[in-house]
Amino acid sequence: MNNGLENVVAAETILSDVRGAEGQLIIRGHPLSELAGHWTFEETAHLLFTGFFADLPDAADFAARLGAARVDVFERARVLLGPMSKLPAYDGMRAAMAMLPDGTALPDALHLLAAPAVLLPALIRLQAGEEPIEPSAGSGHAADVIRMLGRTDGAEALDTYLVTVSDHGLNASTFAARVVASTQAGLTSSVLAALGALKGPLHGGAPGPVIDMLDAIAEEGDGARWIERALDEGERLMGFGHRIYRTRDPRADALKGALRSFGGVDARLRFAEGIERVALDALHRRKPGRVLETNVEFYTALLLEAAGFPKHAFTGVFAMGRAAGWLAHAREQALTGRLIRPASHYVEPLTKNAA
Ligand code: ACO
Repeated sequence: MNNGLENVVAAETILSDVRGAEGQLIIRGHPLSELAGHWTFEETAHLLFTGFFADLPDAADFAARLGAARVDVFERARVLLGPMSKLPAYDGMRAAMAMLPDGTALPDALHLLAAPAVLLPALIRLQAGEEPIEPSAGSGHAADVIRMLGRTDGAEALDTYLVTVSDHGLNASTFAARVVASTQAGLTSSVLAALGALKGPLHGGAPGPVIDMLDAIAEEGDGARWIERALDEGERLMGFGHRIYRTRDPRADALKGALRSFGGVDARLRFAEGIERVALDALHRRKPGRVLETNVEFYTALLLEAAGFPKHAFTGVFAMGRAAGWLAHAREQALTGRLIRPASHYVEPLTKNAA
């Protein structure tokens, strides 16, 4: 039995390839370095969607339709925003997304791609006692998110982030999306399953705790002591380790580069780099047989903090980018895969009649 399904191949895909040994991520034929910082999120989502939806327009029209979908989602969700803002932002976003039609056509996918971008800034603002800002159909996707947050800078860095996390092989949330799609359920059902899987701290929930760790270390003033104590207590250092990468996660450096585009982050970045060195040193010393390196979440935390997102909303921003991959994988599974139905090994109990 293979508890964590390591090395089990459960799907054939044309979407992305996580090359763990080399530390490389390929998205539909392109190395990440060719996309991050060069392609927009809309272009990347269009690339991922190609072949999986009837009537997929060209990339320019796709971006325009995504803009229109942002406006449409805002109108549909307007009355829900108040009640949903009483929940934590991620849960409010997920609850509002559950109201979207559960179809499998391009308009359904565009709504689901637009929804996190619209709902998350609106819920963050309501929770801060501010009015939501309506989307603008003609803006770039990332620029509109920054505008809806009420901020003016960070659109390019956010765009790089969304592209960087748009797809990543058969990670837990993508697998969840494909399991649901394999039953021929609709895209909203797949995305809701993926949102549930992404939330946990071993997957997409790590960047908020990365900020908690950096803040706690800054307060204590001694990174090495804090880290040694955390490891002595059996804690995991958030932002380190990965199931597939046997080397540094290539996404970490893509995001570190984007982070440098913000003014005024030099001191925070130098501090984080220092903690990263101390953490890697401790992990390598304590677990010499394991490959433990920095993962995507460490610099995600710093980038999203600089862009103005509160740390409790970081996982929702991850969903904003990964939704592109979830939707493409769900369609790929529904169109080319089989019902996913593994077996379990029953161990106990057995009554006399069952033996
Ligand atoms: N801090 C301390 N020790 C660690 C860490 C860490 N971050 N990660 C792994 N280890 C240790 C484990 O304790 C284990 O030690 P042991 O064999 O002596 O018991 C060993 O390394 C292997 O750990 P596993 O849990 O078997 O490795 P797995 O492949 O399941 O873990 C995971 C991957 C879940 C990402 C893990 O490294 C972790 O918990 N990291 C911290 C959370 C995190 O950063 N999550 C974001 C991941 S990226 C993403 O999903 C987008």
